[in-house]
Amino acid sequence: MARAIGTTGTIGVVGAGYVGLTTAACLAHLGHDVVCVDTDRRKVAQLRGGAVPVREPGLDEIVHDGTRARRLSFTSDIEALAVCGVVMLCLPTPMDESGDPDTSAVDSVVRQLATLLPADAVVASKSTVPVGSAHRAERLLNRADVAMVSNPEFLREGHAVEDFLRPARIVIGASDAWACHLVERMYDGVDAPIVRTDPVSAELAKYACNAFLAVKLSYTNLLAALCERVGAEIGEVARVMALDDRIGASFLRPGPGWGGSCLPKDTVALLRTGRRAGLDFGLVRAAIDVNAQQLDRVVRDVRRAVTGEECGRIAGHRIGLLGLTFKAGTADLRDSPALAVADALAREGAVLTGYDPEVPSDRQRAVADIRLVDDPYQVAKGASAVVLLTEWPEFAELDWSVIGAAANNPVVVDTRGILDDSDVEQPGIDRIALGDGTHRS
Ligand code: UGA
Repeated sequence: MARAIGTTGTIGVVGAGYVGLTTAACLAHLGHDVVCVDTDRRKVAQLRGGAVPVREPGLDEIVHDGTRARRLSFTSDIEALAVCGVVMLCLPTPMDESGDPDTSAVDSVVRQLATLLPADAVVASKSTVPVGSAHRAERLLNRADVAMVSNPEFLREGHAVEDFLRPARIVIGASDAWACHLVERMYDGVDAPIVRTDPVSAELAKYACNAFLAVKLSYTNLLAALCERVGAEIGEVARVMALDDRIGASFLRPGPGWGGSCLPKDTVALLRTGRRAGLDFGLVRAAIDVNAQQLDRVVRDVRRAVTGEECGRIAGHRIGLLGLTFKAGTADLRDSPALAVADALAREGAVLTGYDPEVPSDRQRAVADIRLVDDPYQVAKGASAVVLLTEWPEFAELDWSVIGAAANNPVVVDTRGILDDSDVEQPGIDRIALGDGTHRS
């Protein structure tokens, strides 16, 4: 379809979660007029009142700048999108019971957009959606004058603003050149390579990236387990790997498993997409399996810390947990490996106390089996072990002699490798670190 290149006009963003809010605020920051729509009236009222309900570094500031400059507004009225030349979909696609992404939120908005949008509009999906969704949405829209584009986001929680304004690449999957150009113009001012491609490739690329990261992490976690058995240290091994730029330095830190709202869901989605296409993604399946085994490995380390034996009984023992979110820099508890470890320990009868800088005790309802405290030192009180589960840098700054003195049994299981021997040696605390075979007998 050959057309003149239009202007974006007001840009609509549907969804005010961490992706939607970041997208809306960053687009306003780039000089666009943006209206952000969310069905959650409370959230919209909060945003209108100047409160930003999502914790992302730098987000508050650009939301406030945008609203003050009247370039950014919030509403729960989807009709506001009737004036938009481009609408960005930033809606959740959680895993449904069968393991497939639940696209009902996206589908429902697309149906409403069909009757709302002006001529020559573009609907761009930032949400991670099943492969083939853009074509499916085109059929739902049933508007020859409106184009559907896949513009996947690669934002990391905790780095979303930075990742939006300085991305590694911008991916635009479009069947029509005019629609591709329109989306491209939105990013004027962002210095990044633009990958212009077809919608199906763009959709698959998003899953391919997240699943690859998961595979890399599981490989690292398995290597860490091997290090423990052969007397090596994963930090040393990773140091060598990182300097090979075919491998790269990131995603080489072992941990209690990978979690969050994206990697677990997207690996399963790629596996299922492969299966439907007659391909067994054994590599991704193995990464998922290793992730489950990683949880067992951490639980075994905790049993060993408490009882001296990998199969020892921890029932009735007090265990202190440092860190509950799925990674540092976020308040997000969704699919957190820390909570999976806590759950497994609670099932064995351990008595858990937990501290996380982003999970204050007034969020107690979110974590039934853990008594939340607002002071990290309290988790050590009478504890048979302290388990460090999220890599908050402040944990390395704690006075570990206070922890050692408060604990019944001064031992820490450092699942994130953020403590040095020097942090804990002086106060006489035993440290069990993942992937450190130089200290294991
Ligand atoms: C992930 C991707 O990194 C983003 O590029 C993508 O846009 C996003 O999903 C999404 O699909 O929306 P995110 O879920 O925020 O971002 O988290 P990551 O930073 O990727 O971390 C995932 C998990 O891996 C966390 O549990 C983290 O603790 C763990 N991890 C990460 C490690 O255990 N070791 C590492 O070296 C790195």
